[in-house]
Amino acid sequence: MTEKSPRSPAPAEQTAANTQGIKIVGFLCNWCSYGGADTAGVCRFKQPTDLRIVRIPCTGRMDPLFIAKSLIYGVDGVLVSGCHPRDCHYAVGNFYARRRMEAFKLFLPFMGIDTQRFRYTWVSASEGQAWQKVVTEFSEQIHRLGPNPGVMRGTGDNSKVSMG
Ligand code: FES
Repeated sequence: MTEKSPRSPAPAEQTAANTQGIKIVGFLCNWCSYGGADTAGVCRFKQPTDLRIVRIPCTGRMDPLFIAKSLIYGVDGVLVSGCHPRDCHYAVGNFYARRRMEAFKLFLPFMGIDTQRFRYTWVSASEGQAWQKVVTEFSEQIHRLGPNPGVMRGTGDNSKVSMG
């Protein structure tokens, strides 16, 4: 009986295997982007299934620590989406968010995290198709990058992680 030599998977197989457990977190403003995602769902637009949505009252509520901790504890990508500039239900929440997130992006390389793992965007409640495009593109980008070698991945107990 001949022994089979171990075969390394072809690149396509590697990609499929490596990206199977991809996790993406989407922080969506309740008033616009959450509605946009809902509209996409109601219209039955095909969407990637690896996005976990966290509904937030406004992108102005986004603490950059939410993003940092998600990525440090092993989420593969973070998407933040809110109302278009000048459409924020709290007037200026997304302007504050935009400034914070632009500054935050500069810190990602210092944390050892690829800046491509984070994106923010604006999608309104009526833009189901735009939402589908954003989420599909981002998901494809994260799948190309593969799993996040996140600093704390696989360290076990993340139950004590505080987002506050
Ligand atoms: Fe949507 Fe402020 S209410 S970004």
